[in-house]
This record gives sequence, structure tokens and C-alpha cells, in this order.
Amino acid sequence: MIEIKEDSIILTVKKNKFDLPFLWLRDNCQCDECRITETQEKQFLLHSVPVDIVPNHVEEIDNNIKIIWPDGHESFIPIDLIKNSYLPRYPDQCEWPEEFQPEKYSWKEFLDSNEIAIEALKTFVRFGVIILKDAPKESNSLEFLAKRLGPINEVLFERIHNVSVTGHVYNVAHTPKGLPPHNDFASYKSQPSVQVLHMLENECEGGESIIVDGWQVAKDLKDEMPEHFSILQNFKVPFREFDQENETYAEAPLIKCATDGTIESFRYSNQLMQMIDPRKEGIREFYKAYHEISLRVHNKKYRSTFRLNGGEALVVASLRVLHAREPFIPNGRRHLQDAYFTYDNAANNIVLLSNQLSEAIRRRHI
Ligand SMILES: [Fe+2]
Ligand SMILES: [Zn+2]
Repeated sequence: MIEIKEDSIILTVKKNKFDLPFLWLRDNCQCDECRITETQEKQFLLHSVPVDIVPNHVEEIDNNIKIIWPDGHESFIPIDLIKNSYLPRYPDQCEWPEEFQPEKYSWKEFLDSNEIAIEALKTFVRFGVIILKDAPKESNSLEFLAKRLGPINEVLFERIHNVSVTGHVYNVAHTPKGLPPHNDFASYKSQPSVQVLHMLENECEGGESIIVDGWQVAKDLKDEMPEHFSILQNFKVPFREFDQENETYAEAPLIKCATDGTIESFRYSNQLMQMIDPRKEGIREFYKAYHEISLRVHNKKYRSTFRLNGGEALVVASLRVLHAREPFIPNGRRHLQDAYFTYDNAANNIVLLSNQLSEAIRRRHI
């Protein structure tokens, strides 16, 4: 059912009511003139019509809205398209249950089976973490994950980073010391959004892996101490990681939210944080808020602890999930490789692979 208002159309489909502004309707015309038919991209330019455009005629026809505009242009918009526009693209983010342990998937199946890859990527979006087991123990195997996670997001130092006590030492990770929860490269404004930690061999005693749901830490702080949360959202903090050959530096707040208030990223690295100019306004309040969130980051209720064995790869949504490590005794071989990927590519592969899968099923039925 269609009802015409002053500057919009009210479309009622069963129990759903859509209030569709005239400009929205004109912008979403699906005709071959307004779209590039080969690519489905939009061709129509909104500023080519007046801002107060009003249709001459509107009707519902064969499950389409048909509109005739004052310049004679005829628009049609399938109602199913409007109904589908609010379907979520990705699974919802979920809180970690008590005693949470990351779900494990076979490395080989993740790469070879679209079904398993879709399931694993959905779990990754929900919880921000998965583990790939039975992974190869050869160096640079992380290159293969580009098939599912998109291209490696290269940063300075190394394309695939080596973490062992015998190699190049530019970070506390290259010592047997414990590592407090952090995400890598807080020293980039566009911090890497996926990190894969691939354990090639782990024969040392200790060195259990720890992950922390940073978004849950931030959400709870927002509910319980909103003034602290707001300071951490606004106060810029400097981070630096460097050696003789490489220089990375960025200033950014610890918490970044989307316009609707949902948390988009939590930047946290004790080791990379630099001295803040003590004259900076709000430094006292910042330090109190930083102290509070640091207490919470180290609170056991937000963490999951496990041993990452040789041949396992831990995949984290690194703007959400922090990683850490217990100290270890260097009484054996321990070699980890890290690489970064881009969250959008990983999440969008859920849609791509699902489309490919339903296309394959459709073909089988022809
Ligand atoms: Fe790290
Ligand atoms: Zn059109």
C-alpha cells in the first residue's frame, strides 16, 4: 500500500512501514538510464534534479513502485530491494561467554572449502578471533591466507614479521619477557585491523597466549564510568615503534567510536606509548582514565588463555582483540611469524563466498 505525503511516500508491506523521501526515491531509480547496466553502479547524479522534487504520479505495479517525475522520467524500484535493504550484511558481534576459548578450524579446510571458510569467517566476525590448526610449519605460509583474508597489509620492518629471541630485536616480543595485552602498530594512524600470529615451533616452557576482548573492556567502561570513556575517546596519545631503519609514529585517542556510538577500535600498547607533553590540557584526567582502563585490560574476566602450539595460527580482529603472552623459558625453539590483513576484506569474503556458493548450487539444479 502506498500513501503520498508532503515530501515522501509511505510504503506499507505487511507489518513493515517505510517512509521514503522523494529525493531518496529519485536517487534509487533502477532504470537502465540511471544505472550502468554492466556494473550495476549508479549513473544518475542527484544534483541534476531540484531539491524539492515532487513526483507527478506514483503507483504500485507488479511488486514495484512506479513513479513519473515532472521531467517525464519514469522510475521503478522493486519493493523486494527496499525490503532487503535493512538485512544485516555480517553476523552480529557477540560477547565472549565465560571460559571462552577460540573456535578452531583446519587450516587446509579453511583454504579449500568455501563452506568452512564462510563458517570460520562468521565466527571471526562474531568473536573477533579464531585459531587455524594443522597449519604448515614452513616459513612465510601466511602468504596463503590472502585467499581468505585479502592481501597482506604490509607495514614497515618486515612483510612477514619474525618473532624469536634469536633474530632482530626491536620490540619486547623478541625477548622471553611476558608481553602485556596490546595490539600491534598503534604507531600507525591506520592501525592494522587483522593480525595473524602463526606459531611455527613452540618448544619452550611457558609463553601461554592470552587474548583480551578490548571492546568489552571499553563497553563496560562506557556503562560504568562514562566520563572516563569520553576522555579516552578524545585525548590523543602518541605511539612510536622504530629502529635504525624504520620509523613509525602516530597520535590518536585510545577509543574510536562510529557516529552511532558503537566502538570501532581500541588502541592499546603500553610498550609503544610515548611521553605525553605534560603541559597538554586534560593530562591529569587522561591519566586517571588511562589508569582505570588499564586495570580493566588486566582484569582476568576479559581474557582467554591457551597455549598456541607449533602449527597453529591465531587470527585476531586486532582493533577489537588485544593479544599478550606469558613469559617463557628459552629452553627450546620458539618461532612465531606475524602478518597483518584488512578486516573489511575478511568480512566481505563472507558475502562473496556465500554468493559464489549459492551460484554453484543454482547451476547444479539447472
Ligand atoms: Fe604483538
Ligand atoms: Zn531512472
